[in-house]
Amino acid sequence: MISFRDYYRNLVNLDFSCNPFSDNARNVFVITSYKDKWLLTKHKSRGLEFPGGKVEEGETSFQAGIREIAEETGGYIEELVYIGQYEVHSKEQTIVKDIYFGEVIRIDDQEHFYETDGPILIDELPENLEFNTDYSFVMRDLVVKESLKRLKELNLI
Ligand code: GTP
Repeated sequence: MISFRDYYRNLVNLDFSCNPFSDNARNVFVITSYKDKWLLTKHKSRGLEFPGGKVEEGETSFQAGIREIAEETGGYIEELVYIGQYEVHSKEQTIVKDIYFGEVIRIDDQEHFYETDGPILIDELPENLEFNTDYSFVMRDLVVKESLKRLKELNLI
């Protein structure tokens, strides 16, 4: 398990085993690609980030991941690979997020993208992501860095 403080100094625990913190995570984060590019979305207040959000009532985190990709980017995806989980301890609550990886099959045009400005395709993520203010705080801690390392180990990227 990797433990660190995030951008807001909240304690984060990150682990790549099977459901280390909860069998029923209520949040999801999906490292998403499309044709050899990273597929991000531009959140209206947080900035660039991978799709994700809250798992809704009656949904699994897998289903939520597929829905969030569609809502935030227009991306259509059939398969997601579970790679790990992290928990964030904030003052008010502790949240658990499932991390998935997925390759989008196509990107559909749509009028509304909920809290985001829609899809953004990027060739490479910047080296110094933690200092890049174009990116959301959720992208600027060890979660993305360690998840990409894990994806390389699994030969998924
Ligand atoms: P809404 O306003 O309903 O979206 O929810 P909220 O403001 O209660 O926030 P949310 O449930 O998304 O997050 C609760 C806490 O977890 C906040 O302190 C967030 O900063 C933090 N948090 C949420 N997602 C992440 C994440 O991916 N990484 C990190 N480091 N913190 C997160």
